[in-house]
Amino acid sequence: MENSILIYPGNEHIGNKVAEITGFPVIGFMLRSFPDGESYVRLLKNVEGKKVHIICSLNQPDSKTVSLILLAETLRNEGAAEIVLTAPYLAYMRQDVKFNSGESISAINYAKLISPFFDALITIDPHLHRIHDLNEIYSMPTKVLHSAPYVSNWIKSNVENPLIVGPDEESYQWAEEVAKGANAPFIVLKKTRYSDKDVKIEMPDVHEYRNKCPVLIDDIISSAHTMHQTVMHLIDAGMTGIVCIGVHGIFGEDAFRLLQSSGAKIITTNSIIHSTNQIDISQLIAGSIS
Ligand code: R5P
Repeated sequence: MENSILIYPGNEHIGNKVAEITGFPVIGFMLRSFPDGESYVRLLKNVEGKKVHIICSLNQPDSKTVSLILLAETLRNEGAAEIVLTAPYLAYMRQDVKFNSGESISAINYAKLISPFFDALITIDPHLHRIHDLNEIYSMPTKVLHSAPYVSNWIKSNVENPLIVGPDEESYQWAEEVAKGANAPFIVLKKTRYSDKDVKIEMPDVHEYRNKCPVLIDDIISSAHTMHQTVMHLIDAGMTGIVCIGVHGIFGEDAFRLLQSSGAKIITTNSIIHSTNQIDISQLIAGSIS
């Protein structure tokens, strides 16, 4: 079956690289808003019988989801044989349980919303915490890719004498894997979250690591309060040369400014376009679709 790539606006930085590596042609299309805010979609290429890989990171998902579904349905109506959603960042995975009565378990509800429109989902390091496997909530086949080898390589080439720091128990999985790849020791801290921007990080004694360069690693930097508070504790403990690595740099509202104010170096993968993108994961995606 002939493969093609459709790059959702805002994903050109990674989509074009994936197209270059795979050699798959890119499908042209129009996507714009009518004056009333509704979306207009038009394909500019024949897609009959093709397997189409839509590349669309799902940060800011509410503003993308309707047009993404319209695009998928238009591909289907125009005869595409298979439609694969490649979402380097997969949204809505953190609200994976009802914390208070009456709340939406958004991870489940979002999965139900988009599953019917795609034949498969590929994503990178989704936030799997209380949900252990995407197939528990997505009714289409899913494939999870891991950025850890890319992150470890970046650390090996850029940081001398690193200590990998996971800011909370949920980051254990990334911290352990990245540390192994970077031949570095790792510690995992304890976090209590009181609200979107109110977190408390508990710091162990890091005296034995005082000559090391702390590299914080987390899957998501959203409000950046988790990273910021961890950096502050490390500074208080006398540590310097701190690096913060996020797989998915969402940086909502003033998050980037807050984290920058800590003086730490901030690095992300290019799963979401941002000035901190230094770890290129386009090869990871290309390898999974070709
Ligand atoms: C959740 O525990 C995640 O692994 C991240 O630690 C969290 O999403 C970071 O959020 P924020 O940047 O808003 O503190």
